[in-house]
Amino acid sequence: MTYDLLIKSGTVATDVDVFEADIGIRDGRIVEIGDLGSDASEVIDATGKYVLPGGIDSHVHISQPSGEGIVMADDFESGTRSALFGGNTTILPFCLQQRGQSIRQALEWYHGLAEGNCYTDVKFHLIITDPTSHVLGQELPAAVADGYDSFKVFMTYDDLRLNDAELLATFDVAREFGATVMVHCENEDAIKYLMGKHEAAGRVEPSAHATTRPIAVEREATHRAMSLAEIVGIPIVIVHVSNGAALEEILRARQRGLSVTAETCPQYLMLTEDDLDAANWEGAKYVCSPPPRNVTEQAACWEGIQNGSFELFSSDHCPFRFDSLDGKLNPKGARGFRHIPNGIPGVETRLPILFSEGVVKGRIDLKRFVALSATNHARTYGLYPRKGTIAIGSDADLAIWDPSCERTIRHRDLHDGSDYTPYEGLEVTGWPVTVVLRGKIAVRDGELVGRKQDGSYLQMR
Ligand code: URP
Ligand code: ZN
Ligand code: ZN
Ligand code: ZN
Repeated sequence: MTYDLLIKSGTVATDVDVFEADIGIRDGRIVEIGDLGSDASEVIDATGKYVLPGGIDSHVHISQPSGEGIVMADDFESGTRSALFGGNTTILPFCLQQRGQSIRQALEWYHGLAEGNCYTDVKFHLIITDPTSHVLGQELPAAVADGYDSFKVFMTYDDLRLNDAELLATFDVAREFGATVMVHCENEDAIKYLMGKHEAAGRVEPSAHATTRPIAVEREATHRAMSLAEIVGIPIVIVHVSNGAALEEILRARQRGLSVTAETCPQYLMLTEDDLDAANWEGAKYVCSPPPRNVTEQAACWEGIQNGSFELFSSDHCPFRFDSLDGKLNPKGARGFRHIPNGIPGVETRLPILFSEGVVKGRIDLKRFVALSATNHARTYGLYPRKGTIAIGSDADLAIWDPSCERTIRHRDLHDGSDYTPYEGLEVTGWPVTVVLRGKIAVRDGELVGRKQDGSYLQMR
């Protein structure tokens, strides 16, 4: 047999090209693209389907410990399974350094959770919360040398945030050793000030989450993060941009010559702060940071997606359960907005939403979809061209999309560990029906055939 797997007659797309072709796969890699006959152990007929690079979701939280001890709804098994069903073959979750912990301890614990429990390939980002001189001088350089070469830092959350001096010092280590830095931009002091005022006025409902984190909170921090990066002289990734004003700051920084990569997420296209008003604390289902804004900001985010201002479209999947199964777990939102864990599920719905709202509705073409869903993530985080494209020699990570499949998003049909989706009832056109991970069929016509041992950790150095 010439090929282990042959995908016949699909419409193949990369970030620069769309063409009809067969894809020949051997030993987990793409070995030929063209008119390839039928000499293969297994053939998939992709007539009328799109054959796209498997999605890469570079912003996913799995089993991340939180300050209040609230357990995240997804572990690696459920999180990667859900990702796979959403057309993804690689995800980049966060390995959190808790304060007082060494980077090595954090990595050992997190690798232990992932080992043998992944339906997709994975690579970790490090969240740095405790940049002591030992961490900066020894642990981070060693981690980068071992391939842990992307750091996320936070300007908000008591248990995670770095002050400006710590941001500068961390950026400097990233510059010296060649790591990529992702920044969560919100002004913590402004949030605290507004929280105090809200609580004094008796406003503790979920909607206060949005009004204590207005656009200026994000815009100011975005500007500051980029200024600090400019002072140190490093490129920077601004994650989960929610509005046009923060994006304008990014465009201005780029005009000054700064290298800034910008990410947005489905919640900033599909949700608004009004969703946080839902009765019976259901508004807690939409609590994430930065919060969803309004239709004007949704339009600004769409424009950034269309004109290329945003390179990355990620889920920021950060799942908590709304209903508690166990009295010891905090039902999402039980004790006032301040205690609602921040984050919403979305790793499975990210690409169907972008496909339906973007490609099917004519806002973006298929090439831009591929760039936003896979290629740019691979380029930004050092996985390209092994991942994120369809090319000879690349890993055979593919999602075969039925562009005319019509579905209504229902949580009961999803595969994550949460108990709701913020997009319940949304009608979408287009779905990834078959997913191939390194040449092995993992989802076939909507049925799971992959195993949780199939995903690999991507050790790139
Ligand atoms: O609300 C969010 N986004 N939670 C996840 C953590 C983060 O800030 O990315
Ligand atoms: Zn964040
Ligand atoms: Zn996040
Ligand atoms: Zn469920």
